[in-house]
Amino acid sequence: MKGKLGRGVALVGAGVGKFGAFPRKDSRDLFVEAFRELVASVDNKGFDPTEIEALFIGNYSSELFEHQGHLAPILADWVGLTPRAALRVEGACASGGIALRQGVLAVASGLYDVVLVGGVERMTALPTEAVTDTLATAGDVLYEFPAGFTFPGFYAAMATAYAARYGMPYEALMEVARKNHAHGALNDKAQFGMTIRAIMDRRLAKAREKGGPLPGWRDELDFLRDPGANPPVAWPLRLFDCSPITDGAAAVLVVAEELARRFTDRPLRVLGTGQASDACLYGRADLTSLRSAREAAAQAYTMAGVKPSGVKLAEVHDCFTIAEVLAVEDLGFFPSGQGWRAARDGATHRDGTIPVNTSGGLKAKGHPVGASGVAQVVELWKQMRGEAGPRQVGHDVDLALAHNVGGTGQTCVVHIFGRG
Ligand code: COA
Repeated sequence: MKGKLGRGVALVGAGVGKFGAFPRKDSRDLFVEAFRELVASVDNKGFDPTEIEALFIGNYSSELFEHQGHLAPILADWVGLTPRAALRVEGACASGGIALRQGVLAVASGLYDVVLVGGVERMTALPTEAVTDTLATAGDVLYEFPAGFTFPGFYAAMATAYAARYGMPYEALMEVARKNHAHGALNDKAQFGMTIRAIMDRRLAKAREKGGPLPGWRDELDFLRDPGANPPVAWPLRLFDCSPITDGAAAVLVVAEELARRFTDRPLRVLGTGQASDACLYGRADLTSLRSAREAAAQAYTMAGVKPSGVKLAEVHDCFTIAEVLAVEDLGFFPSGQGWRAARDGATHRDGTIPVNTSGGLKAKGHPVGASGVAQVVELWKQMRGEAGPRQVGHDVDLALAHNVGGTGQTCVVHIFGRG
């Protein structure tokens, strides 16, 4: 592998819809909403959406979630792109990230100059048990599924292995949830745009209305320790360790770097892209790190010619709180066995040394699985351009990274961006 793009590639537009549960919207409605924000984000240089030459769409399972196959041309039609090529990319929860990589490679190859990359998933039309079942097929249905593994179960196995090896107290995971909810509270697109304190206060208010004894929670940690408020889902992971079930979509506009300034004076450059695979969880010797994440990150760092210490902001795949702990180690921000301290000590907070998941992450912003990898990049776009509103980080973000995991890490894709 050469480890280089054939020509420079840039992002010149980005948009994300509101994340949440929307019984009256299907994937096309969600995608149109993200597309409209993207069109509005392209600086006023006379952008005509018909310049888009192809659509790459990340989506895990529209067939199972909403009984709609062959989604890409439908989305292309709904945003006025037919007869251009439209293609769906599937890599479980990394579908969005690998759709972006495919769009980047298509532009780098010289085939296209302007492509639209999107991600979408509509999950909430199914009951939780059916969503859990659908997601579990991203594991191995021959060896893992019959053993009763669900996604909370997979990541619970990683959390117990990590805690046993490195002496992590499980309460450290609560600090990841607290941080990401605090960030999500500043994001008007987040499914849970609330701090855990605000959720706790709302529950207290409801209990007060009903009359009867009030829970004695003093603070967020007290609330999270209470199995009534934060019940185990798959021990040791509890409700607030899990990302929610979400409907949502995101989109970015990818162009040849030499054309970027036709669209905006402030493009982002794609400095590095990496993707790797691994065996399913049952086949791995080590559950405390994702080999695919380390490999994808190494590829992206090498291509970009940067080190982890240069990264100023990261959106990482916190489908469960333990996943963020593994990510910040696999990406080289913290040594092995130390990542669990990062949220507790403030290092990954918005005002920390390496802010992680300023969008609220999958935990609080929400996790419409096929859209998440693209939505991460939309957050980097906003932060790098100083357009993140109340959650804008204080320092200059000239280098940022997105880390998107599929399944238990059978797929991982990492992108690194600089300013153009
Ligand atoms: N974190 C915090 N609160 C959550 C939550 C989450 N992940 N999911 C739901 N809630 C809250 C709801 O807002 C609701 O609160 P309210 O009573 O104050 O209104 C309450 O919990 C019950 O919501 P409900 O939708 O009935 O929850 P559920 O039990 O059906 O689902 C999970 C909860 C954790 C099982 C579900 O969110 C889940 O499966 N998450 C993991 C998804 C996943 O595996 N994604 C892929 C990762 S690789």
